[in-house]
Amino acid sequence: MRALHYHQVTKHYFNRFAQSLGYLDWATQPDPFRRYAGTPVIPLSRDIVAGERSYVSLYERDDEPSAIDDRDRVPFGIDDRDRVRFAIDDRDRVRFAIDDRSIAEFLRCSMGLSAWKQYRQTRWALRVNPSSGNLHPTEAYLLRQGDVHHYAPREHALEQRARIDRAAWNTFTGGRDGFLVALTSILWREAWKYGERAFRYCQHDTGHALAAMRIAASLLGWNLTLLQRWSDADLSTLLGVDRDSDYGDAEREETECLAVVTPGETAPWVTADPAPLVAAARNAPWSGHANRLSTDHVPWPIIDEVAEATRYPGVAQSIPNAPTPPPSRPETEARFGETSPELVTRARQAAAGNVQPLPIPNSQDMRAREVILKRRSAVAFDARSGLARAAFFSMLARLRPGAPPWDAIDWPPQVHLILFIHRVEGMTPGVYAYLRDPAVLDEWRSAMRPEFVWEPIEDGLFLLFPSDVTFTANRVSCDQEIAADGFFSLGMITRLEPSLRERGEWFYRRLFWECGMIGQVLYLDAEAASARGTGIGCFYDDAVHELLALQDDRWQSLYHFSMGVPVEDTRLTTEPGYS
Ligand SMILES: Cc1cc2nc3c(=O)[nH]c(=O)nc-3n(C[C@H](O)[C@H](O)[C@H](O)COP(=O)(O)O)c2cc1C
Repeated sequence: MRALHYHQVTKHYFNRFAQSLGYLDWATQPDPFRRYAGTPVIPLSRDIVAGERSYVSLYERDDEPSAIDDRDRVPFGIDDRDRVRFAIDDRDRVRFAIDDRSIAEFLRCSMGLSAWKQYRQTRWALRVNPSSGNLHPTEAYLLRQGDVHHYAPREHALEQRARIDRAAWNTFTGGRDGFLVALTSILWREAWKYGERAFRYCQHDTGHALAAMRIAASLLGWNLTLLQRWSDADLSTLLGVDRDSDYGDAEREETECLAVVTPGETAPWVTADPAPLVAAARNAPWSGHANRLSTDHVPWPIIDEVAEATRYPGVAQSIPNAPTPPPSRPETEARFGETSPELVTRARQAAAGNVQPLPIPNSQDMRAREVILKRRSAVAFDARSGLARAAFFSMLARLRPGAPPWDAIDWPPQVHLILFIHRVEGMTPGVYAYLRDPAVLDEWRSAMRPEFVWEPIEDGLFLLFPSDVTFTANRVSCDQEIAADGFFSLGMITRLEPSLRERGEWFYRRLFWECGMIGQVLYLDAEAASARGTGIGCFYDDAVHELLALQDDRWQSLYHFSMGVPVEDTRLTTEPGYS
């Protein structure tokens, strides 16, 4: 499989990084903002529309009692006519009507700018969605009432690329209230810095953006789900990114996904036939020419190959449920030494009382919009503060499927966590496993190092090995101190080869999306806990696998993450994303 080949080739090792230029060619640094010259530009409102919603309510399932308290229902600097109240069961939930202002808020709170930073003469934008190296390969599109728009985050404006025949649009939507959003990647943006490994980062970023959009939809009381009937080829036509004449020598965009956003049911949109809308898009009048982002490019053929191999054909294959037998495992060297119940007890006693957890902020009081807009990556942690146990378990619970953002995707969890816990209240430092699907326990256990103790802690969390793992965490995450100095860091261990065999190579991208979505939830949870997170794309792949004694490509770490109390870089000045 070409995806597995790509994965193998783009691993980092202690003595060798994946292939890249090895230096930053500043002369060809890509412009972070794509624009389509010659399109009508529609400025978007910068009004606060959904300022009142509490952070915890973003993750409510429809079958849960409402976590929205009474204060959430009091208008907060907005005009009450903007809001539509729907009675759901015995609850009263606020859902905003879809209009220009609420759509502007949706884009602002998912793909907009969150800040401008400056150091001496250099000024750069940060966004609501994170991106490896702040390179932002992900472009967003919005389709409403037959109009195809590209989102321009610097201006917070829409560029109108096409007007699709309204009758075809109405046939597709069935007259239902809602709009479509799509994501594409400009692969070159990441390849400029990271070379061959860049395709992975583009996919992580897509996952972050998808979760950011799902959560922004939640903020407004809307649903968002992927439309899996759409092939990448059809989506390219719908977005106009297959139009050679509009690109010239500008960098092309690789389609990633299409989703519906609606206050109503998503099912009719998911099942609607794409064909008439695709045909209408092909015949529509288009305007605009893409800007060229770099003066010159370095080719990375393996990225073109993996992009082609993993394009979505549009038909989800049926997924066999037959369990795959665990592979026979040769004897492995014990990296952690011996484990015994006495050792566990001793380590636990030593840890008790050592962690001073941060006070837990009252999450009912945390405004969701504020949390979303202040999300940042930490560059360093204080190596002292601890996380309250209750906050830690709430974070883990939000990674389980069944609630937003997990209703945006239609596959069961393929990604589970290995945690390096350093400072969590009442928790023995050590290596832990967190299962996002409890059914995976036997398979995981048999795939991993036999000396792991697998002591159940709570809600799918197991202690594998008690020890100070700060050095180990730092070492496997490319020797980055953020992996050691926070509350914890983690690796997202993903069912790789069996997933691709069962579904197809296109699923390779989705595995990274799932990781990016986990990262996005953790980023926001960190802010809600008055802490900070950082996504970690740089790690020594096989060192992680060796540590766990994972033998083949059935399980692979695809992404790392860390969380702690940040140490700010006081040399930088910060201004708001929009004046
Ligand atoms: C997929 C991904 C991988 C990342 N990898 C690293 C990393 O290895 N080390 C690091 O310090 N930051 C890493 N980051 C953080 C980015 O550098 C950060 O998101 C970017 O600079 C933008 O800053 P912001 O998150 O504050 O908006 C990563 C972020 C993402 C989304």
